[in-house]
Amino acid sequence: SQLEKGGYPHFMLKEIYEQPNTIFDCIRGRVVNNATEIKLSGVIDHSDRFINARRIIIVACGTSWHAALIGQRLLQDIARIPTSVEYASEFRYSNPVLTSDDIVIAISQSGETADTLAAIKLARENGAFVYGVCNVVGSSIARETDTGTYIHVGPEIGVASTKAFTGQVTVLAMLALAVAQLRGTISQEKLSEFSRSIEQLPSLIKETLKLNDAIEKLSSTYTYVRNFLYLGRGYNYPSALEGALKLKEISYIHAEGYPAAEMKHGPIALIDREMPTVVIAPSDELHEKIISNIQQVKARGGSVIAIVTRGDTTIPEIADHTLEIPPVPEALSPIIVSIPLQLLAYHIAVMKGCNVDMPRNLAKSVTVE
Ligand code: G6P
Repeated sequence: SQLEKGGYPHFMLKEIYEQPNTIFDCIRGRVVNNATEIKLSGVIDHSDRFINARRIIIVACGTSWHAALIGQRLLQDIARIPTSVEYASEFRYSNPVLTSDDIVIAISQSGETADTLAAIKLARENGAFVYGVCNVVGSSIARETDTGTYIHVGPEIGVASTKAFTGQVTVLAMLALAVAQLRGTISQEKLSEFSRSIEQLPSLIKETLKLNDAIEKLSSTYTYVRNFLYLGRGYNYPSALEGALKLKEISYIHAEGYPAAEMKHGPIALIDREMPTVVIAPSDELHEKIISNIQQVKARGGSVIAIVTRGDTTIPEIADHTLEIPPVPEALSPIIVSIPLQLLAYHIAVMKGCNVDMPRNLAKSVTVE
């Protein structure tokens, strides 16, 4: 009802705007002691499992699988544990080799996705330690895992996941730090610096939400295109996949996410005036490289919507539209970047007259195979 939407026209927009609060709730009581320590009870209670872990496998579906890809980088970068990501639906039938030194992390907003549930049952039968990252308290996956961390972002009603995704990535960042702390792969100084950045996420999200009007305006230019390309590198390659999925799910525009440098091995053949490209290009290690990817798109007549870090003077000169986000460490940037991507998908879908909260053929949770 209108009342439940809190004055917003759709649950999706309400949930997008809730993110400063949901991320605050997600980190509350977990970034502690003046940001010198990360406290996750699931890690503390099973510290030997994390100290002895030889590898981590993350299983998930849909948007949660995109969060898993970011989690993989975080765990590898910060906790230095070899980590892989599997679609739960593939993992469950892949005859995996598992031992008691393996940790399987299951990510699921609903905690009810049939494939993810089957994947964790298989993992436990094979002796792995299973850690859940769920939103719904007391859900099947939360109950079937050995332990875990709730994302605590409140009920998500819109079928297209928004606040759950940012909550999942935030939990994975805290998990990587908590494990790094245990295994001694991070200095106290770096840990504190990172933790302070996590504490700043709610205010950075709030600031980023101010892009809404600019995004609404530019969306009218792209309402009737048939195809979209999303490019990103490093931590933001999964952001490109998630941005494309969001658009696909609610606007029915075909969209493809790609690692920017792989564009030349295929998608570049499709670029023309009719196919816009969203380039996620915050100022990071690979910034120079992504600028040349933008030039490659422009040289073929494609239009570019670029997401850049405030203060970037190069990209606004070449892109058709530029959306500025505040500076944020690269490893946390997918959380901030997802705000303009969610808003872009939302406004295009609304302009097309689509039912954004209940897109055709999709379900909020897929409890059958
Ligand atoms: C469905 C939903 C997606 C979600 C996916 C996984 O496809 O429409 O938004 O990402 O299931 O759901 P889960 O609850 O396991 O995160």
